[in-house]
Amino acid sequence: MFTTDKRRRFLHRTQSLKLQHLRDAVQQNQVTGYPPFVEEFERDFARYVGCRHGVTFCNGTSTLEAALFALGVGEGDEVLVPAYTFHASIDPILNAGARPVYLDIDRRTQTLDPSEIDRRRTPATRAILVVHMMGNPAPMDAIMARATGLGVVEDCSHAHGATWGGRKVGSFGQVGCFSLQGSKPVSAGEGGIAVTDREDLWRRLNLFGHFGRGADGAAADPYAPLAKTGMGFKRRANPLGLCMARVDLQFLDEVNAALTELTGRLAEIVAPIPWLTPVASWPEARKGGFFYGMPVRIERDHPRAMTRDALLQALTARGLEAKSYPYHAYHRMPHMVDGAVRRRLLYPGRPLAEPAAEPVPLPDLPHTDEAQAQTLFLSLEAFADDGWVKRWARGLPECCG
Ligand SMILES: Cc1ncc(COP(=O)(O)O)c(C=O)c1O
Repeated sequence: MFTTDKRRRFLHRTQSLKLQHLRDAVQQNQVTGYPPFVEEFERDFARYVGCRHGVTFCNGTSTLEAALFALGVGEGDEVLVPAYTFHASIDPILNAGARPVYLDIDRRTQTLDPSEIDRRRTPATRAILVVHMMGNPAPMDAIMARATGLGVVEDCSHAHGATWGGRKVGSFGQVGCFSLQGSKPVSAGEGGIAVTDREDLWRRLNLFGHFGRGADGAAADPYAPLAKTGMGFKRRANPLGLCMARVDLQFLDEVNAALTELTGRLAEIVAPIPWLTPVASWPEARKGGFFYGMPVRIERDHPRAMTRDALLQALTARGLEAKSYPYHAYHRMPHMVDGAVRRRLLYPGRPLAEPAAEPVPLPDLPHTDEAQAQTLFLSLEAFADDGWVKRWARGLPECCG
């Protein structure tokens, strides 16, 4: 991986701080449960996002499961969700016994298309799970205006520090969920945090994965009988991982500012190539997290367009790092659409209810299909220098012919 002195200095600074916190925690045997720095991190992260409460979890997937539980999503409910996401946004819906109803994205920004909410909502719709994919904020004003009467969960696993209209993503819906997994800009190695403004939801988030945390009121009435057990799940974070995440949180704005600047410079390099279009953001949006790089769409109908794989190969041969879409077309997988198909796969040999006479049809999501097939992600390095930018400025036009 290409690196720079600036980046090396940054890593040295942050890694030293992380090691110091880790050493302190080990020396003081604060390696399990909820030592004071865990609750401090929960408070700091929630405050950073603009919410009153934060609850850490062992991973981001658990935050989404807990959020759906907190909102009361269960058997027979429908949950609106974009298919342009990682499967961890979808599996918790299926595992709650609910049905994911897939929404298409806006072609230009690759964010959830709010008009899809009206199109796909039914009387069974209980919630919407918004994903701020690759750090690009979804249009929260339009989404919230259409989501009346629905629970709203924001999956901000790629979008730490991103904003919509100056307000942090994760603070619009009832629950904001963040992965703190190792590739995320705030990382506990493995971990997650859910934020909410609502006391009742905070208590239900705790109930989901934090038995024994009832003494502080999380499991007071009407959950008092559950104070010692919660739901029986233990999904708490490893405090040692949070020793690292607290340092990343401290530097998040600095990293996001560096990546914003770099994205602008890369966009200038991409601009003259008529068949490559940087994926846009809405005017109200400021990207954050920048997970996976800078997305550019290949305009496949342009007569000079290369295929995505040919461009990827040319860039790799030139030493320029780029990647194709990392996830899959879940809306084309019957078991990700139809709960009965999924149950048959998960519980082979067990008698289950008769399959429906008509199989559940796979949804038609043309912009999602295009984004998955035609997007390339140009690598971004926080604190890259002029030399790094020059390599792209020379190499990209050459690769594009
Ligand atoms: C969009 C999205 N949601 C949820 C998750 C789940 O996070 P975790 O891997 O921490 O469980 C991820 C993980 O990368 C993700 O990309």
